[in-house]
Amino acid sequence: MELRLENLTKIFTNRTGIETTAVKNLDITIESGTLVGLLGPSGCGKSTTLFMIAGLEKPTSGKIFFGDDDVTKLAPEKRGIGLVFQNYALYPHMTVFNNILFPLENLDVPKDEAIKRVKEMANLVGIGELLDRKPSQLSGGQQQRVAIARALVKKPRVLLLDEPLSNLDARLRLQMREEIKRIQRETGITTIFVTHDQEEAMSISDKMVVLDFGVKQQYASPQSMYTDPGNLFVGKFLGNPPINTFEAEVKKGYLMINDKKFMKIKVPDALYDIGMRPENFRAVAEGFDVDVKDIYHIGRDTMVHFDFNGQNVRALVDSDDISSEDKVVHLSIKESRIYLFDKETGKVVNHG
Ligand SMILES: Nc1ncnc2c1ncn2[C@@H]1O[C@H](COP(=O)(O)OP(=O)(O)O)[C@@H](O)[C@H]1O
Ligand SMILES: [Mg+2]
Repeated sequence: MELRLENLTKIFTNRTGIETTAVKNLDITIESGTLVGLLGPSGCGKSTTLFMIAGLEKPTSGKIFFGDDDVTKLAPEKRGIGLVFQNYALYPHMTVFNNILFPLENLDVPKDEAIKRVKEMANLVGIGELLDRKPSQLSGGQQQRVAIARALVKKPRVLLLDEPLSNLDARLRLQMREEIKRIQRETGITTIFVTHDQEEAMSISDKMVVLDFGVKQQYASPQSMYTDPGNLFVGKFLGNPPINTFEAEVKKGYLMINDKKFMKIKVPDALYDIGMRPENFRAVAEGFDVDVKDIYHIGRDTMVHFDFNGQNVRALVDSDDISSEDKVVHLSIKESRIYLFDKETGKVVNHG
């Protein structure tokens, strides 16, 4: 089912009358059956957006559509949503079986059908053998699987996950990421996955929405957002090690790095914020020379800190192309991998 947010806004007013705009004029259409990552720094409005979709927060203005249904004013239990939070919120005194069954208890689902569905969901999430256990007898990852099974048992129209992996250790997080992706593919359920972790969002999402201060920055596939960041915020938010950024001027058609001509470039003369991802540099035989400040190996890659006409820049290059003793290296970067952002709006001016 398609999910559509139209001009969605949420303003919180505290006791002293101070307003916080948590979500601002958000327009998103999520195609049926896709997994969309909702990504942004802490406090950018991710949970508020999710809670409005769930019906747990009332929008200040705007609309929410599930397919053709306007659900903006519909009670949460009537929306057909499955919710999973960071803290699994399982009932500690109930078995896994009863935890998963619980959402069906107040529905008119015949007992046989309910039992069948609980088993089906438990198998889907890979805990079919653990139905008799209590939550305290499960690992964090297993508990989160139970929470997912419980969210899916009512066959919701939308699955909403709010930082579901944040409480898991790093290895389990990677494993559960793949599991959630698999479960989403197998069920084909339209899913929103909230996270502040750009790498997690990049690896799990069909498409991502990046928010900053409640405002949508970009909505695109992870790969296209990475190679074509719409603005400086997105460029900086995605990528590890992060993109190099500093001010650079274009003068008479030349990109200047600290007043030295670097390359011809087809954008209007002006002062810009430039962005260059460390991994987009190559160490080559014929390139521009830079003085090495620091160099260290990270497995297959080598990180070079260098002085780029007075700017401190990092390049991540193939270890085969460079030696630790090098004091000067020759680098290249394609024009298409140089991003220029408008100083006022932050918008990219030479891409997309
Ligand atoms: N119930 C609330 N009352 C007042 N302010 C809130 C409430 N919930 C969230 N906020 C504020 O709204 C903004 C967005 O919060 P939230 O949606 O929780 O962000 P995120 O999930 O991205 O970390 C924050 O500034 C937060 O302090
Ligand atoms: Mg949150």
